[in-house]
Amino acid sequence: MTICAEIGSAMDIVMYWIFGVILICGAVVGKHEIYDGYSIYQVIVQDIYEVERLNKIIYNVSADVWSHSLPGRPGQVLVARERQQEFQELLDDAGVVYQIEVHNLKELLELEDKLLEEAGVRSSNLSVERLSFDKIHKYEEVDNYLELLALAFPSVVSLVVGGHSFEGRPIKYLKISTTKFEDRSKPVIFIESLIHAREWITLPATLYAIEKLVTHVQDQDKDLLTDIDWIILPIANPDGYVFTHNQNRLWRKNRATGYMIADICSGVDLNRNFDFNWSSYSSNLVCSEVFHGKGPFSEPETAVVRNILHENLDRMEMFLDIHSFGSLILYGYGSEMLPPNGLSLHLTGQEMASAIDNVKTFWNPDYIVGNTAAVLYQNSGSAQDYAQSVGVSYSYTIELPGYRFGLGTGAGFLVDPKFIKQAGYETWEGIKVGARIAIENFRKKRNLRDK
Ligand SMILES: *[C@@H]1O[C@H](CO)[C@@H](O)[C@H](O)[C@H]1NC(C)=O
Ligand SMILES: *[C@@H]1O[C@H](CO)[C@@H](O)[C@H](O)[C@H]1NC(C)=O
Ligand SMILES: *[C@@H]1O[C@H](CO)[C@@H](O)[C@H](O)[C@H]1NC(C)=O
Ligand SMILES: [Zn+2]
Repeated sequence: MTICAEIGSAMDIVMYWIFGVILICGAVVGKHEIYDGYSIYQVIVQDIYEVERLNKIIYNVSADVWSHSLPGRPGQVLVARERQQEFQELLDDAGVVYQIEVHNLKELLELEDKLLEEAGVRSSNLSVERLSFDKIHKYEEVDNYLELLALAFPSVVSLVVGGHSFEGRPIKYLKISTTKFEDRSKPVIFIESLIHAREWITLPATLYAIEKLVTHVQDQDKDLLTDIDWIILPIANPDGYVFTHNQNRLWRKNRATGYMIADICSGVDLNRNFDFNWSSYSSNLVCSEVFHGKGPFSEPETAVVRNILHENLDRMEMFLDIHSFGSLILYGYGSEMLPPNGLSLHLTGQEMASAIDNVKTFWNPDYIVGNTAAVLYQNSGSAQDYAQSVGVSYSYTIELPGYRFGLGTGAGFLVDPKFIKQAGYETWEGIKVGARIAIENFRKKRNLRDK
C-alpha cells in the first residue's frame, strides 16, 4: 500500500509537467481540447501483486488514476493519446486485463456540456421555492441561492462568510438551527462538498440536504431539524470549482499560485493540507495532484474548514466530507491506524451504506465501507482525518457513485443529468441514518458526563 501511494504521487509529478505545458496550449484552442484523444481505461486486477504491477505501468506512462483498481473492483485510468499503445503493451505483458471505456474524452466532455445545458434550459431556475436538480449549478448560482435562503428563512438559516479563497471569493456556509446554535444539548453535524473541484456530483448532495432541512422538511424527518444544528458548506473550493467550469473540467486542487517559477504548476490538494500527519503520505511537488502545500493549513480554504470545526468542537458529533467517486464510505486514519472508536465508525458507516444501497439505482454497485488506507491507499492531511483527530466522533469521506452508462461502465467524474437528483436523494437517505446515530451517541455521552 505504501508503494502504491508513493508511485501514485511520483506518477502525478511526471504527468503534471507534461500537463502544465498542455494546459498553457489548451487555453488557446478551446475548453476541452486538452483532452482530445485521451482515453479512459477500465482496468481489472486479480490480486495485490497485479495492483503493484499496474501502478508501475501507470507511472511509466504518466496516466491519471481516476479510481484505484482493487481486486473485485475495476479502476479507471486516463491515458493521453500518445501513450496509449505503450500502456496497452505493458498491460498485456503484465497480464492485466483492461478495456477502453471512452475512446476520446474530449467528445464525452462536450456531450456532458450539451446534456447539462439542455437539462438546465428545461429546468426552472434555482429559487427558494424550488431547487432544481437537473443541472450542476455554478458558483454564482449557488451563492445567490444561499443568500436568498438566509433572507427567506431567517429563523432557521444563517449565512456565514467563513473566509476568502486564494483568488478572493467568499467561502459561504449555512448554519441551520431551530435554536440559533444556542442549545448546548444538541449535536452539530457538518457536511461539505467540492473540496475537490472536479467532483461535481457532490454538489447536489449538499444542496439536497439543505432543501430537506429548510424548504421541504418532511414530517417524519422533523427531528433532524429540531434535534441537530447543521453546518453545510456546498463549495469548499470555489476557485477550483469555477476553474472546472471555465477552463479545465478535471481540475482537482485549489488555484494557489506562487509555488513555482512562472507557475508551470499550481494548486494545492486541499485534502492533503490539513494538520494531521501532514506530509507523511502526500507530495511536496507542486505539479502533483496530491501536493500538500507549504505547511499545514497554508491554504485559506482549509483554514475555513478548520475554523468551523473548532468553533463547534464541543458539540460536533459528525463530519461528512462528500467526494466522488467510487461508492465508498471511508473513515480514518489515512495511515491505516484506527481511531479508538474504529468499530463504531465501521458499524455506523455500514448503516449509512445500507440505507443508500436500499434506494440506489440498481446499476450502481453497493457501497463499500472501510478504513481509507485499507480500502484505497495511504494518505495524510485529509479533512476527514483532521476532524477525527480533534475529537469529532464520526468523521467520514463519502465517495458518491461514478458516472455510468446505464448498466455498463462509465466515466467517473462526469455527470449524467439524470443522476443529479438521485445522487442528492440517495445520499440524504444515508446521511439521515448517520445523523440519528449521532444524536443517540451525543445523548449517551452527555448522560455519562452528567452522572
Ligand atoms: C517503461 O516501459 C519501458 C518499456 O515500454 C521500459 O523500457 C522502461 O524501463 C519502463 N520504465 C519504467 C520507469 O518503468
Ligand atoms: C432563468 O433565468 C434566466 C436569467 O436569469 C432567464 O433568461 C431564463 O429564461 C430563466 N429560465 C426559466 C426556465 O425560468
Ligand atoms: C503518520 O505517518 C507515519 C508515516 O510517516 C506513520 O508511521 C504513522 O503511523 C502516522 N501516524 C498516524 C497517527 O497515523
Ligand atoms: Zn475527492
